[in-house]
Amino acid sequence: MKPFLFVTDLDDTLLGDDSALKALNRKLKQHRQQSQTKIVYTTGRSFGSYQILAKAKSLLRPDALLTSVGTEIYFNAEPAELDPEWSAILAQGWHREQILAIANAFPQLQLQPPSEQNPFKISYYLCDPIAETIIAQLKTALAEKGFQVKFSYHAGQDLDLLPPNVDKGLAVKLLRSKWQLATSRTVTCGDSESDIDLFSGEENGIIVGNAKPELLQWYQENQRQSLYHAQKAFAAGILEGLQHFAFLPKC
Ligand code: GLC
Repeated sequence: MKPFLFVTDLDDTLLGDDSALKALNRKLKQHRQQSQTKIVYTTGRSFGSYQILAKAKSLLRPDALLTSVGTEIYFNAEPAELDPEWSAILAQGWHREQILAIANAFPQLQLQPPSEQNPFKISYYLCDPIAETIIAQLKTALAEKGFQVKFSYHAGQDLDLLPPNVDKGLAVKLLRSKWQLATSRTVTCGDSESDIDLFSGEENGIIVGNAKPELLQWYQENQRQSLYHAQKAFAAGILEGLQHFAFLPKC
C-alpha cells in the first residue's frame, strides 16, 4: 500500500454523517497502519473547539492540524505543539494592533469571543444587510494606511481578518515537503468557498456532494482532471473520491 497525504476540512465535509464517518475512519486507520499515510484536518475552529469536537466524534488522531482558518499548525494533537515556522511566515507584513484599531471603529462589526481571536486572526460577527458595502469600506480604510489583510467572510455571519500570507494551500505544500509526499499522492477535501485555497494547487481534490453553491460555482469555472465532485455527501463523498483516485481500494 502506497502512502498518501489526506487533508480534509471538518464541519460539513468529514463530519455530517456519523455512520459514513465510522466506515471511512476504519479504512483510513487500516491504511495508516500499513503505510506512512498522513492525516491532516483543517478547520475554522479554534484548537479548544477542535478538541471538544474530536472527542465527541471519535476522530482519528491527526498527524497535523490546521486550526483557526489556517492561522495555526499543530503537530501531535496531544500534547499539541504549535509550529513556529508557520507563525514566522504569518508574522510577515501583519500588524495586528493597528488593523484591530481600524476595524473596531466600524460599529457594525462585533468582536467574536476571546477564544476565537489569536495573534494571526481577528474575527468579528457581521450580520448586516449591507455587509458587502461595509467590507468594501473596511478594505479601503486598511489599504489607505498601507495594511495588507486577507478577508474571509463566511456564511453571511463571520468576518475574519487574516495575515496576507495565510493560505491553506501553502500550508499543505509545507507539510507535503516535510513528509516528502508527492503532489500526486496528496488529496484535499472540502465543501465551501473557504476551502478554495486547498483546491488551487496541483493536488487531487474532492468536493463533497453536499458542497455549497459558491464552491460549486468556482468548480464549474475551474474544472480539471485532478478535481473530483463526489455524488455522495460528507464522509461517504470523501470515500467515493478516495476510491476514484485509487488511494483506497473499491471494497
Ligand atoms: C469558525 C470560527 C470563527 C470563524 C469562522 C469562519 O466558526 O470559530 O472564529 O470566524 O469559523 O472562518
